[in-house]
Amino acid sequence: MISKINQLLAELDLLKVNTGEELESLRVKYLSKKGEISQLMNDFRSVAAEEKKEIGKKLNELKEKAQNKINEIKSNLEDSGSDNVAVDLTRTAYPYHVGTRHPLSIVKKNICDIFTRLGFSIAEGPEIEDDWHVFSSLNFAEDHPARDMQDTFFVMNGTDILLRTHTSSVQTRVMEKTQPPIRIICPGRVYRNEAISYRAHCFFHQVEALYVDKDVSFADLKQTLLFFAKEMFGQNTKIRLRPSFFPFTEPSAEMDISCNLCGGKGCPFCKHTGWVEILGCGMVDPNVLENCGIDSKIYSGYALGMGIERITNLKYQVKDLRMFFENDVRFLQQFESAY
Ligand code: DAH
Repeated sequence: MISKINQLLAELDLLKVNTGEELESLRVKYLSKKGEISQLMNDFRSVAAEEKKEIGKKLNELKEKAQNKINEIKSNLEDSGSDNVAVDLTRTAYPYHVGTRHPLSIVKKNICDIFTRLGFSIAEGPEIEDDWHVFSSLNFAEDHPARDMQDTFFVMNGTDILLRTHTSSVQTRVMEKTQPPIRIICPGRVYRNEAISYRAHCFFHQVEALYVDKDVSFADLKQTLLFFAKEMFGQNTKIRLRPSFFPFTEPSAEMDISCNLCGGKGCPFCKHTGWVEILGCGMVDPNVLENCGIDSKIYSGYALGMGIERITNLKYQVKDLRMFFENDVRFLQQFESAY
């Protein structure tokens, strides 16, 4: 046994290693569980008692020497940069696990970025609102059937304080305080008294855009919508406007985009029509301008509003709306690299 140890000690002195791979096989040979030194340690148990002291000492010497030698070679290789195992150039410089952005935040930012590039600035308003800002100023008459379209949560019975049902209320807030030109984009949370299901929730998110100035026309609206659709869903996206009704715009329209899943050919997602609806829009009704102190004989404007969940679904095909609000990290982590 002594001669085996001496032989290994001598070998260690003569070692020459050039690559990380060679170093690794050396480590395995000497220091691994089934390596030479472990074997000797096993054999050591059956050594006669009178020899234990001398052999034990030698064995420890060997172990220490092997360890030191391997460390020394490793640091030499690292210093010279010739080791392709120890220096991993592909390793991230920031080994911290950072959180992910919520998909709705990603899409909200995408939408706002597109509009801010067109000169819109961001405006926000309160979620707890009053009847005037959410309905009356926007041309919803007291008994207007359109109020039924928006099942409202009242904060206190018998008052007109309520949770806003759309971000159109921010239009009024801004127009009351500012004279045109006005170019705003208003992201925010809205509330409606709806049964929760995979396609409806009692709160969700919208983005509203408003442009008021002299000579703003429907053509300006259409061009802005086309630009938005192409930026958001790709340059091949087509748009289509259908006549619609909203109390605060006249004329009003709903916009569809060519289905971004099948490219307009027809698939289950677009119910084989090739089109999917994404927003409502129109020319601001003169009554709304007047309600907010803006002269409708001088100024005109367009407005549009869209649901952020809807746009997010189109971008990421999230089948069940409720997933946005459950905060399940397995869902959220899928958006790690999205923004
Ligand atoms: N406020 C509407 C809704 O919640 C969306 C909307 C439609 C906003 C048309 C607008 C618009 O500004 O012009 O359904």
